[in-house]
Amino acid sequence: MKKLTGKHSKMITPDEWPMKGTLEYENVWMRYRYDAGWALRGVTFSLKPQEKVGVVGRTGSGKSTLLLALYGMFPLGAGHITFDGVDTQALPPEKLRKALSIIPQEPLMFSGTVRDNLDPYGEHNDYEIWTALRKVGLKSYVTHLPGKLQAYLDGGDGSWSLGQKQLICLARAALSHSPVLCLDEATAALDPETESHVLGIIAELFADRTILTIAHRLDTIIGSDTVMVLDKGELKEMDRPDLLLDDKSSMFSSLVDKLGPSMAAGLRQQAKQHAAQMGAMERHGSGSSKILATRS
Ligand SMILES: Nc1ncnc2c1ncn2[C@@H]1O[C@H](COP(=O)(O)OP(=O)(O)OP(=O)(O)O)[C@@H](O)[C@H]1O
Ligand SMILES: [Mg+2]
Repeated sequence: MKKLTGKHSKMITPDEWPMKGTLEYENVWMRYRYDAGWALRGVTFSLKPQEKVGVVGRTGSGKSTLLLALYGMFPLGAGHITFDGVDTQALPPEKLRKALSIIPQEPLMFSGTVRDNLDPYGEHNDYEIWTALRKVGLKSYVTHLPGKLQAYLDGGDGSWSLGQKQLICLARAALSHSPVLCLDEATAALDPETESHVLGIIAELFADRTILTIAHRLDTIIGSDTVMVLDKGELKEMDRPDLLLDDKSSMFSSLVDKLGPSMAAGLRQQAKQHAAQMGAMERHGSGSSKILATRS
């Protein structure tokens, strides 16, 4: 059997990989063209399995590039990204991409049936597919479609709303065994009610996965275990949100303070509450080490 070469020359069999969702960026540089500026400039950090990370930073700071680098869309100029012990650049692209779930702002749909969209590799039975639809709250809707799982998703009649399409993408991610979920402003285009519904589903369905969330609004990531602040392609800050907010001079503090005193006070309170809850879970032994942010 072909072996995968892991970090420190450890050999990992393909059946063992991916495992839990450990990610390690080591001095990662990436640019889109050889004559363009660097979009990532020596980014280094590591994430534990199940860690929930919010990625913030100004427009053009490199947030989406951080995910594209992981996905292997462009070659790295320097550095390594290690995913569950294996250098991503040494993996066949399809194997790498199958091991990741990435949900962008615009739902990524395939032309085909509901079933094709949920199970593009044809790996799941009807029971599993209906279970995933139930978990995202679409079971009843699909049950009433003519053709049910064989109904065409892009029938051109516009019968699927943006939110429903995003829920299909979540159901697809729920069916996949990928331990890492990346969300790039995945709820930004939704109305507030649908957004909060979708965020609730994400929190519940993917509690056991490592999640990288690029946020369009800070309130959607204030409850993360860890916040990363990018600026001009560099990782400037990475820590628990409450700790970053304790430091009034942190970039994260200034992003929060820019929202005005009342919003900022609310976010600071939420960050503290989340930290207290996590601390209580740790003390009762029901938490994991995930709340201990890895500093770069
Ligand atoms: N496809 C591309 N080709 C060339 N340059 C790109 C491409 N995509 C992004 N860039 C450049 O790379 C840098 C980082 O962009 P990136 O899209 O990662 O920022 P971002 O933080 O996701 O911004 P936003 O909040 O607007 O989504 C920017 O200077 C941007 O202009
Ligand atoms: Mg972006």
